[in-house]
Amino acid sequence: MKVHTYEKAILAVAGILLFSCMGALLYASVYLGLHLPSPVARIDPERVAETPPFDQPGVRQVGPNQYEAVVIGRSWVFQPSEIRVPAGAEVTFIATATDVLHGLSVAKTRVNLMLIPGQVTRMTYRFRDVGDYLLICHEYCGIGHHAMAGKVIVE
Ligand code: CUA
Repeated sequence: MKVHTYEKAILAVAGILLFSCMGALLYASVYLGLHLPSPVARIDPERVAETPPFDQPGVRQVGPNQYEAVVIGRSWVFQPSEIRVPAGAEVTFIATATDVLHGLSVAKTRVNLMLIPGQVTRMTYRFRDVGDYLLICHEYCGIGHHAMAGKVIVE
């Protein structure tokens, strides 16, 4: 059986695509160290309010222009609902949920976390530009989902 030249060419292109995509994945994960936001710890969802750092939700400075934002998601609010940091601040979001699955997404940034009861999620992002950034729940969580929002204020 004779394989058509076009078929060979298409096979070659598919092979090159496959290997370059695998190469890009390896480069991003091994060399650049990029990973999806992942659970960093377990937490008892019924004892979030007593478990550090969630016993003191809010924003605190942890270094020169470095901040930690400890956020609890519950139906249907973020606690705190307002996060205020100076321009250029590197903010590490540490978040969890107490009841059902929520999301935490900051508009105009790549901050996008899943808030899962029983898990702690963490992600760091540098806010370079001054402005108000909408903080929204992007995971349908019940009747008040559309109202579950907050704000990151960079000043
Ligand atoms: Cu919380 Cu949707």
